[in-house]
Amino acid sequence: MENLDVQLVKVRKEFGSLVAVDDVDMEVPRGSFFSILGPSGGGKSTLLRMISGFEKPDSGNVFIGGELSNDVPPNKRRTNLVFQNLALFPTMNVAQNIAFGLKRRHINKNEIAKKVEHVLGLVDLPGLGSRKVSMLSGGQRQRVALARSLVLDPTVLLLDEPLGALDLKLRENMKLVLKRLQARVGTTFIYVTHDQSEALTMSNMIAVINKGKIEQTSSPLELFYHPQTYFVAKFIGDNNCWGGEVISVDKDTCSVKVGNRTFSVTAGEKIAQGDKVSIFIRPEIIHLVPESDSNGIRGIVKEAVFDGTYTRILLDADLGNFPLEILVKISQSETPSDVKIGDAISVNWNNGAGVAFHGISDNTVLEGVEE
Ligand SMILES: Nc1ncnc2c1ncn2[C@@H]1O[C@H](COP(=O)(O)OP(=O)(O)OP(=O)(O)O)[C@@H](O)[C@H]1O
Ligand SMILES: [Mg+2]
Repeated sequence: MENLDVQLVKVRKEFGSLVAVDDVDMEVPRGSFFSILGPSGGGKSTLLRMISGFEKPDSGNVFIGGELSNDVPPNKRRTNLVFQNLALFPTMNVAQNIAFGLKRRHINKNEIAKKVEHVLGLVDLPGLGSRKVSMLSGGQRQRVALARSLVLDPTVLLLDEPLGALDLKLRENMKLVLKRLQARVGTTFIYVTHDQSEALTMSNMIAVINKGKIEQTSSPLELFYHPQTYFVAKFIGDNNCWGGEVISVDKDTCSVKVGNRTFSVTAGEKIAQGDKVSIFIRPEIIHLVPESDSNGIRGIVKEAVFDGTYTRILLDADLGNFPLEILVKISQSETPSDVKIGDAISVNWNNGAGVAFHGISDNTVLEGVEE
C-alpha cells in the first residue's frame, strides 16, 4: 500500500434515495496522472470531494498516503482541490493570489517570495507575479490557479474539470501544459473530466465511472482497444455498434450473426448461444481489402474526409437486405489510398478484433462528441 497515494475501499455516498457513489474501490499509484472519466451526474465530483474531505462517505474508507482519513478535515489532508470555476482574488496580483495559502501557514516573506517565483516558472509564467489578475488571459488564469495549489506542495492535486471554462483551442494547449507539468513535478494528479479526449491524452490510468459505479480502470490504450463493459465500449471513442444473435461460442470467442454475415468476435462477458448481443468494431481496426476478396464487406462510400492522419470513411454496406453504415478510419501512413465519395470498396478486419456485450443496439455509428 505504500506506493498508493489514495486508496478507496467500498466508498459510498447517498443523497436521499439517490446513490451518487456506489461502493467504489479505487487505487491511485504514487506519481500517476489518474483520471476519473464519466458522463454528467456520474458521481465524479462527489468522489473527488470525498477524497479532498469536503464530503464524508456514508460507508467505506478513504486512505491518503496509507492513512485512514475519513475524519481528517480538508485543510489537514495532503490533498489540494482545484475547482472548475477558478476563483482567483480579483483585487490581488498574481503573486498575492499564489501566496495566499502560504501566508495562512505563517511562512516567512522571503521563503514565500522564493516559492512563488519557483512555481510561476513551473507553470510557464516566470516574472508575472506583479501582473493584475484582470489582465490575464483565460489560460494564464488557469495556470495561476494551478500554481496556487501546487505551491502548497500537496501530495495529491485534485482537479475537477479544470479546463471546462476555457475555449477549445486553449483547452488543447492546456492539456499539454498539464501533462508536462505533472511529469515535471511528479505530484499525483487526480483529474476529473467528462471529456474522453482529455482523459486519453493525459492519463496513465483512467477510471470510468457511470451511475456511481466504476466500470473499468485501465490505461488509455487498454480502455480504447479492450473495453470491459458495454458502457465503456459505447462511451469511449468512435465505434461501430451492431446488434446480432450469437450462433456459437468457443471459450472467449463467439460467432455473431449480423444480417447475412457471421462475425467472430471476442466475448466481453459471459455469453451463450442464442443471446442477443451488440458487437463493437473500432473504425481504426477496419482495413481495405481487394474487391476480389470474398470475405470483404462491400459498400459504397458516402463520405470521405481526410484529417491529416486518417481518412474517415462512411460506407453504405448491405449485408443481404440488412443495410449497415460502417465507419472506417484508414491510416494514411500505413495504407495511402485515394477513396472518394461514390467509390465501391471492400473492407474487413481481423477475427476477434471486435468485442461483444449483452445490450441492445440499433446498428449505429457512435461518434464521440467533442465539445
Ligand atoms: N449535495 C447534493 N445533494 C443532493 N444530490 C447531490 C448533491 N451533490 C451531488 N448530487 C447528485 O449526485 C449525483 C452525482 O453528482 P456529481 O456532482 O458527483 O456528478 P458529476 O459526475 O460530477 O457530474 P458533472 O459532470 O455534471 O459535474 C447527481 O445525480 C447529483 O445530482
Ligand atoms: Mg462534477
